[in-house]
Amino acid sequence: MKNYYIDSLPDYFKQYKKSIKNPKKFWDKIADENFVWYQRWSKVVEYDMQEAKIKWFKNAKLNITKNCLDRHLSLRGEKTAIIWEPNDPGEEAQHITYADLHARVCKMANVLRDLGVKKGDRVCIYLPMIPELAVTMLACARLGAVHSVIFAGFSAAAVTSRVNDCEAKWIVCSDGSYRGNKAIDLKGIIDEAVESCPSVEKILVVKRTSGEVTMKEGRDFWLEPLYEKAPSDFISVIMDAEDPLFILYTSGSTGKPKGMLHTTAGYMVYTAYTFKNVFNYQENDIYWCTADIGWITGHSYILYGPLANGATTVIFEGVPTYPEPDRFWEVIEKHKITQFYTAPTAIRSLAKESYEWVEKHDLSSLRVIGSVGEPINDEAWHWYNDHVGKKKCPVVDTWWQTETGGIMISPIPFVTPTKPTYATLPLPGIQPVLMDDKRNEITGNQVDGNLCIRFPWPGIARTIWGDHQRYKDTYFTAFPGKYFTGDGALRDEVGYYRITGRVDDVIIVSGHNLGTAPIEDSVNQHPAVAESAIVGYPHDIKGSALYGYVILKDVGESRDRENLRKEINQVISDTVGPIAKLDKIQFVSALPKTRSGKIMRRILRKIAEGDFSNFGDTSTLLNPEIVDEIKNERV
Ligand code: WTA
Repeated sequence: MKNYYIDSLPDYFKQYKKSIKNPKKFWDKIADENFVWYQRWSKVVEYDMQEAKIKWFKNAKLNITKNCLDRHLSLRGEKTAIIWEPNDPGEEAQHITYADLHARVCKMANVLRDLGVKKGDRVCIYLPMIPELAVTMLACARLGAVHSVIFAGFSAAAVTSRVNDCEAKWIVCSDGSYRGNKAIDLKGIIDEAVESCPSVEKILVVKRTSGEVTMKEGRDFWLEPLYEKAPSDFISVIMDAEDPLFILYTSGSTGKPKGMLHTTAGYMVYTAYTFKNVFNYQENDIYWCTADIGWITGHSYILYGPLANGATTVIFEGVPTYPEPDRFWEVIEKHKITQFYTAPTAIRSLAKESYEWVEKHDLSSLRVIGSVGEPINDEAWHWYNDHVGKKKCPVVDTWWQTETGGIMISPIPFVTPTKPTYATLPLPGIQPVLMDDKRNEITGNQVDGNLCIRFPWPGIARTIWGDHQRYKDTYFTAFPGKYFTGDGALRDEVGYYRITGRVDDVIIVSGHNLGTAPIEDSVNQHPAVAESAIVGYPHDIKGSALYGYVILKDVGESRDRENLRKEINQVISDTVGPIAKLDKIQFVSALPKTRSGKIMRRILRKIAEGDFSNFGDTSTLLNPEIVDEIKNERV
């Protein structure tokens, strides 16, 4: 990416205007100047937003790994592509150069081809955050297979449903994984999962923990011996712009998981462009995104976006609190990280710890710090800005979704003045609109509504694997002709966007629409509160009333609960308004969270309603045991 760098606010507005006036010209130029193609496109974009049919760079031919690897070899062959930081700080970090990564990917592609994988086949990947995860994904892309990474913390049941949905014949997993001081038997989980996966023929096993595993003759293969003898070159398969690149299942907080399908050219162009601009990426930066590659954030902003830019990207195997709660800060200091990208949930949990953990470390290499995944509350934003960014690093609060492929609304660092809890302005090419419940567009500023996007962008998912009707129904039907995000947003007096949370989290109390996010934000401002979740429950007079689940910081543990309840409501009263007061407050030790860190509100709503009958699928919860505790202590 050479040319597209937004360098001032007027420049942003200029580029934004251009991108809206003539999106074809805008994306045509970016695609033309920054990538290598076997064949140019005949048309930049073709779309039907009623039928949810979208094509970018029609008839173009390419291979994404040529763009992520081969083309860097002459100039950056010896540059580090991936820094791998292991779970245990005592184990040495690996620095993998572009030349080395290229060779590893070619070897892996040869191994996969020898196991029978062909263009268009689906390969499920269930690996921890080790280099082989990146290598396997890229190897699939090189030979044209569709990877479907399943986060290696999911249970066997969650694996089964995903493998069956995409009918994968191959799974790549490891013997085990390390997380903090635990070793987890991943192969055992796969063995259990595939008992109910008739499509699976072969399982390739990477050695990581050397834990004991059972290998089934003819089905299971160790990677090592095959990899050793595989050649280190592999001619990349020519892919059409719209050939599938990967399927990624969304977290499944509700219903059957949706296999979002991303295709090749548009996704590549969009992730590369947004990476460069949102992180102000410059040659020789060392960029670290702490997400797991099993989520879209990892796909787009650990792997494809950075590598398409020839960047150095960190893959971190561990957890923020192991061996101590300063691991993030230690790694930033150790590798001299310039851009750090993490999630509000991680920020809040580290903010609970003493500042000394942060202050112990030299974080002066940082230039840009980012947040993703959920609304960042005011307190967490300031903590991040003050203690991590030292008020010198722009906080890029990036709003986007698995479905959008890449970042949609975000400040451009050093360009867009930031505002706590606001994702601020749309990136070039992105046309957000707010819609009311009667499907009318809400114009002007200081308004809020359902967040939709008016025009397709290159990174948008093209369908739900095997179920285009569901794709259409979920995203293109509520507001015909527009992509509906499922999020609510407000637009302030200068046109900045603040994401207020999922629209289904809106609670109407006495006729007032209340977003859960601003109330949680307010509760979290109480000095004794670490985290909170608000849900609605039926109320005779108000329609709905508010029920708050609150996790206390250590300082709150010894306090009288009734006084705390009063104080919390006073804070809400002072910040959001008396209407938002919580009728019930339950102090809990943790909240039920999906493995991607999202609170499973469905369960909290049921408990608040006193309905313990059917909690639905809890297989994606990180901490299922908490459900009983919360239920038993309901107030
Ligand atoms: C939420 C993660 C507020 C939002 C990339 C969205 C956010 C959902 C933000 C997608 C943000 C993500 N501010 N909310 N900066 N980023 N979200 O698919 O509700 O795991 O719809 O993609 O996370 O989550 P997903």
